Amino acid sequence: MDERTLDAIIARHDAPAGRLLGILGEIQNQEGYVPRETLELLSEKLGVRLSQLYGLATFYSYFTLRPVGDHVITVCMGTACHVKGAVAILEALEGLLGIKSDVTDDGKLSVTTIDRKFTVEIARCFGACSMAPVLRIDGNLYGYATPEDLPVILGEYGWTP
Ligand code: FES
Repeated sequence: MDERTLDAIIARHDAPAGRLLGILGEIQNQEGYVPRETLELLSEKLGVRLSQLYGLATFYSYFTLRPVGDHVITVCMGTACHVKGAVAILEALEGLLGIKSDVTDDGKLSVTTIDRKFTVEIARCFGACSMAPVLRIDGNLYGYATPEDLPVILGEYGWTP
């Protein structure tokens, strides 16, 4: 985010109450995430400790510190799904999408493809354990998933080999 845009956001949030959350919310809305360098710039401009801004950005699940793709794939890593092959699902996704998921600054396991089409993340349980292993794409649930199913499923979201 450029400095002028950030200045405009800061100027729109001059009331002390809820100011930081309001500013972070606008950054998230405009950029799709809260870039680290924008947090550093904001820290300088407001004289607020960077750790405080990080604390807010990581406490609220609405904020994300990394770019998010057009489609969010969430692989369930809860016990039932883990036992039924969730790790193989995650590994197959990494292979198909050419990514390696890792832990973000905010402690989440997440990664986005370079073209920003897909973000892969994990969750603990969708409450659909009877269909394990389960993954979710943009709110659509896919149960009894196998690595072999993934090319067809991803194809529904515009993925091509
Ligand atoms: S453990 Fe995966 S849906 Fe419950």
